[in-house]
Amino acid sequence: MSMPGESVLRVPTYVQGLDNILNGGIPKGSTIVIEGAAGTMKSTLSYAILYQNAIRRGDTVLYMTLEQSRTDLEEQMSELGMPRRGQVDLQDKLAIVDLGELRHFLSGAGESDLSTDWFKSVLRQLRSYKKEFPVGIFVLDSINALLSLHNRENPRVDLFHFMRELKELDMTCLLISEVGKEDNSWFGRSTLDYLVDGIILMEANRVEDIVNMQLGVVKMRKTAHKRSFHPFIVSRGRVEVVGA
Ligand SMILES: Nc1ncnc2c1ncn2[C@@H]1O[C@H](COP(=O)(O)OP(=O)(O)OP(=O)(O)O)[C@@H](O)[C@H]1O
Ligand SMILES: [Mg+2]
Repeated sequence: MSMPGESVLRVPTYVQGLDNILNGGIPKGSTIVIEGAAGTMKSTLSYAILYQNAIRRGDTVLYMTLEQSRTDLEEQMSELGMPRRGQVDLQDKLAIVDLGELRHFLSGAGESDLSTDWFKSVLRQLRSYKKEFPVGIFVLDSINALLSLHNRENPRVDLFHFMRELKELDMTCLLISEVGKEDNSWFGRSTLDYLVDGIILMEANRVEDIVNMQLGVVKMRKTAHKRSFHPFIVSRGRVEVVGA
């Protein structure tokens, strides 16, 4: 989908308001970061983008989770109005890969987390998925979890190569990045922010006893996006950015 007169193909987020901010959506094939502190609904927003694209465009989409289990994620999203079970079409269209299961399997096979090259492992899984399904959008939850497993000598260099290889797979990639409210210096964050094509930042701001959830687009290559931050709500399986 693209805006009239525009050559950049865009993947709509189907988040009301966010597509306005983004001039129609995320440029197809780009790698973006969904950044925010704990509980700022990063997983929900990412899942909602996959869910709506699978339902409305019949796109094949993949959610890879490293920490939250598949069952836990499914239950949470079902609770928020995005059930996967019982939706016949979605079983084939929306795949959830639980890398925690692979970690468990590897430890059972006597291989430790630390001896596995997790960047390579993720890419290998993606390639094998792509052979069977034309994955259009990919979510990695989270890039921090992957980096913390990746106990190698030169993680920054490896991250650079990982991003390159991800790009070659020709999917639109949403990488979830957890940032603390104060400590913004987690290892690799600045490297990542420069490497990616776009950043959507999610924030929880407290004003007296009310917490407002807000999001904004910090950067999005190939896009004359708005820079304003707006409140967002989640209701019946839809994320909506208010006033954008
Ligand atoms: N209907 C709802 N509307 C608003 N907030 C909700 C709703 N249901 C749950 N929440 C809140 O959203 C949080 C979960 O959102 P989500 O898992 O998407 O956030 P996250 O940023 O991925 O969190 P984490 O840091 O745990 O990965 C819950 O912990 C709860 O505080
Ligand atoms: Mg999460």
